[in-house]
Amino acid sequence: IVRMTDLDLSGKRVLIRQDLNVPIENGRITSEKRITASLPTLKLALEKGAAVMVTSHLGRPTEGVWSEAESLAPVALRLSQLLGVQVPLVRDWVDGVDVAPGSIVLLENCRMNAGEGKDDETLAKKYAALCDVFVMDAFGTAHRAQASTHGVIRFAPIAAGGPLLMAELDALAKALLAPAQPLLAIVAGSKVSTKLELLSSLVGKVDQLIVGGGIANTFIAAAGYPVGKSLYEPDLLDTAKKIVADAKARGADIPLPTDVVVAKQFLPDAEATVKAVADVAEDDLILDIGPDTAQHYAGLIAKAGTVVWNGPVGVFEFEAFSHGTQALAQAIAASPAFSIAGGGDTLAAVDKYDIADQVSYISTGGGAFLEFLEGKTLPAVAALEARGA
Ligand code: 3PG
Repeated sequence: IVRMTDLDLSGKRVLIRQDLNVPIENGRITSEKRITASLPTLKLALEKGAAVMVTSHLGRPTEGVWSEAESLAPVALRLSQLLGVQVPLVRDWVDGVDVAPGSIVLLENCRMNAGEGKDDETLAKKYAALCDVFVMDAFGTAHRAQASTHGVIRFAPIAAGGPLLMAELDALAKALLAPAQPLLAIVAGSKVSTKLELLSSLVGKVDQLIVGGGIANTFIAAAGYPVGKSLYEPDLLDTAKKIVADAKARGADIPLPTDVVVAKQFLPDAEATVKAVADVAEDDLILDIGPDTAQHYAGLIAKAGTVVWNGPVGVFEFEAFSHGTQALAQAIAASPAFSIAGGGDTLAAVDKYDIADQVSYISTGGGAFLEFLEGKTLPAVAALEARGA
C-alpha cells in the first residue's frame, strides 16, 4: 500500500476519506473520538501544502436527498475549532470543488450521493476526477465496498493509505498476525449469534479466550450449569460445545466463570449477590462475573503477551455489576502485554475506567475492527493493495 506520509502533496488536490460518523444528539456531538483521530492526517496534508477535500458519511441517509439530520454541519464546525482554521461545508461537490492549496473543505455526507452505497462506477470516477491523490483513512468504514471507500481507489490518479488507516492495520497485524505469546482475547456481548464468526475465527489463533455477557451464559449453559433467567441462546449450545472442543484440540483454553454476580431484576439498584456458578437459581439473572473469576482472568491477562479486547463482561453501566469489567480493564492497563481494544461498548468502558493511555492501541472501528478480527479481507484495504506499493 502506498502511504500518504511518503507522498509529496505540495500544491496537489487531495481527497481524503475519513470516518467522521460520530454520534449526534440534538445537533450535539456526543463522542468526538473519530474527529480527533482524523486530525493528525488532516494537519499533515495541510502542512504538506495540499488543497484538502475531506469526505465522510454520517449515518445512513437516503441517497439523492439532502437531510439536515444527516448533515455534516456539526462536524464541520467542530473540525474548524479543533484545527483552528475555517472548514467550510460544501453541499454540492460531486462535479467540482473549489479549494486552494493550504486550505481545507469538508464535503457534505457522501451517502447523500446517488450510487455511493452500491459502489457505482460512474460516481467513483467523478470522485476520482476531483483529485490528484485519493487518501483512504477511514478505517471504521474500510469494511464497506462503496464508491468513496472502494470504487474511487480504482480510478484515482494515485491512491494511498492515510496515517490513521495504516496505524490501525499495523496495530491489528501486530496483535493477530505475529502476536507476542500468549495471545488472549476477551469477547463479550449479548449474543453468541452476532459474534459467532469472531469466536470461530479467534479460537484458531488464541491461547486463551475469555467470554463474557450473554455469550458466556450460553457457554455456561453448554457446560451443564443452570443460568436461570439469564440472557442466553438455547439454540447455540451445540455450537458453544463445538467451539470449546475446537479450542481444546488446539491446546487453547476457554476458561468459564466459577462465580457470578446475580440479581432478580435487570435494574441499576437491584440487589447483587455473588454465587458459585453451580448455585444459580431459576429466577436469577447473571449480570457480571464474580470476584474469584475476575481475579483468575486478571492473572491470565497479567501473563499475556497480547490482549485483544472486544466487549464488557458485565452490565458495567450499573455500579453493582461493573466490578468484573473494571477488574479486567485495570488488569489490561497494568499488563505489559501489547493490548488492543475496539467496539463502542468497549471504548465506553475504557473511558469509564480511564485506561486509554495504558491500552497500546484503541481502534476507531466498530464493524471494521470485528471483521478484521474475524479474518475477513476489508474491501478498501484490498483495493489499496491492488494498486500496489
Ligand atoms: C461505523 O460506525 O461502524 C462505521 O462508520 C460504518 O458505518 P455503517 O455501519 O453505517 O456502514
